[in-house]
Amino acid sequence: MAALSREQLTTLLRGIGLRQVRLVSGVILFAYLVSHFLNHALGNISLEALAGGVYLHTAFWQFLPVAILFYTACLVHTALGIWALYERRQFRWKAIEPLQLLLGLSVPMLVIAHIIGVRLGHTLYGHEKLYPQVLFLYWVSAPYRIWLMLAVMTIAWVHGCIGLYLWLRMKAFFKRAAPFLLAAAVLIPTLAMLGFYQGGRNVVDNDSREWRAENLTTRQVGTREQQQTLDRISEYAVIFYLGLLALALLAKGARAINERRRGMVNLSYGNGRTVRVPKGLSVLEASLRNNVPHASVCGGRARCSTCRIRIIGDCSALPEPSQREAFVLGRVGASDPSIRLACQLRPATDLSFFQLFLPHTAADGHGSNPTRIGQERYLVNMFVDMRGSTKLAEKRLPFDTVFIVNRFLGAVSQAVLASGGMPNQFVGDGMLALFGLATSRQEACRQALRAAAMIAANVDELNRFLDHDLREPIRFGIGINGGEVIVGDIGYRDHMVFTALGDAVNVAARLQDMTKGLACEAVVSDEVRATAGLAADALPQHEVEIRGRNEPMIVRTVADARMLPALVNEEQSAAA
Ligand code: FES
Repeated sequence: MAALSREQLTTLLRGIGLRQVRLVSGVILFAYLVSHFLNHALGNISLEALAGGVYLHTAFWQFLPVAILFYTACLVHTALGIWALYERRQFRWKAIEPLQLLLGLSVPMLVIAHIIGVRLGHTLYGHEKLYPQVLFLYWVSAPYRIWLMLAVMTIAWVHGCIGLYLWLRMKAFFKRAAPFLLAAAVLIPTLAMLGFYQGGRNVVDNDSREWRAENLTTRQVGTREQQQTLDRISEYAVIFYLGLLALALLAKGARAINERRRGMVNLSYGNGRTVRVPKGLSVLEASLRNNVPHASVCGGRARCSTCRIRIIGDCSALPEPSQREAFVLGRVGASDPSIRLACQLRPATDLSFFQLFLPHTAADGHGSNPTRIGQERYLVNMFVDMRGSTKLAEKRLPFDTVFIVNRFLGAVSQAVLASGGMPNQFVGDGMLALFGLATSRQEACRQALRAAAMIAANVDELNRFLDHDLREPIRFGIGINGGEVIVGDIGYRDHMVFTALGDAVNVAARLQDMTKGLACEAVVSDEVRATAGLAADALPQHEVEIRGRNEPMIVRTVADARMLPALVNEEQSAAA
């Protein structure tokens, strides 16, 4: 893997917030859960299979670096759960988010005794409690624990699945993977519980004086005193944990009182609507609390930027954007200080603003197609602009101008469609086209380059056709850039359009602008050139400044777009 550049590393680090840490620690814990459940499932075969499985399971999870990672993830995830209890004032999806938090917070309480009994017993006294010992405890000594174990298995699994769903539902592959993920989400815990049942029945059936003498030795399960000590530690741990939860709730209450004392702020939505909320609430929380529709595709997780607002008036009194907010705004090219994320901004003074994206029915929960709600994916974005259309309109009837512009856009759209792309938005005499909605990255880059060539050929033909009507041939500029964008429906009520948002789209528009200064037909980002597989020396290289970016960007200029297919085909046949 190529080493990350300084800019990439800085961008990566700036993008890490509490949510990313929660996600990574949650994924580690879920991986442990899957491994543990698959181990339980072996109980459907035999006690020997369970023993073989636990050998592999512990060999992996007790390997020192993995164990450190795992226990860190346990502590971090639990701490972040308690922090969320304190910090979260409003939930976007009324039922699923509080349920997710409640399930997550109850897991440590239910599992503490099991962890202390097995793991701490091993660390303090060298106990070797494996499946026979644990199953005996549950099925013979304290059968009520069976229900506790089944409850904690269900709760932890449902909590993990909800977390994964909220994370993955915006990914491009989710729709295709959903049936398989659902099957796994049902099958794995079912097999695990059946295995737990079969293992328990096996232990009960085998229970005899000899079996106990072999499996319940002091070395394996410890003495009565040791067990009492472990039980006491479990009780203290549960009390400590409940104390932390109580502390978080008390702090929450204290904060609410404090906020009331500190005063209220007025938030005006620029459409005549004003709400009055305590200081400290984010703008998105204020909207949700007052039932003001507010686009928030990622649910306030600072991932989508659809909650963006434009502040009206002076922004100097606003708190500085957090690292995460600045990162997301930077990604969508919003360097203007009046643009902020509503889910991150907590104003301490009255504020007037406009929502940049009006919530549509899907984001309000009435729509059902998740791919149209918003999805993160890699796309190649192409901006095409007709040069000199203002001059073209001089001394011409408006109808004639519209006719010529439409012929131009028709020629461009035909080229985009023929190359496998999608004409997406028409802005005056310009167009945004998207490539890669149903293809690989490499194919999307190649399609865009072929489309650029075809646009040039189509415009040539159009120029010949309009030869007698035009004083000068039609010229054009093309900007091509690839990157992660959010695709979804944007607009209002019946005026929704499917489009792409993000830094990669803005950069494509700027590259198109640069074709004038660089005196060429197209400017292509170096990333698209490399992903398409074109040789490093295939096109002239330039370093350009892009507004809103700290570091210059490497681009390639194409003086004559008609030569692009030859380059693409050459590389394709060389690779074949
Ligand atoms: S709701 Fe997604 S970034 Fe604010």
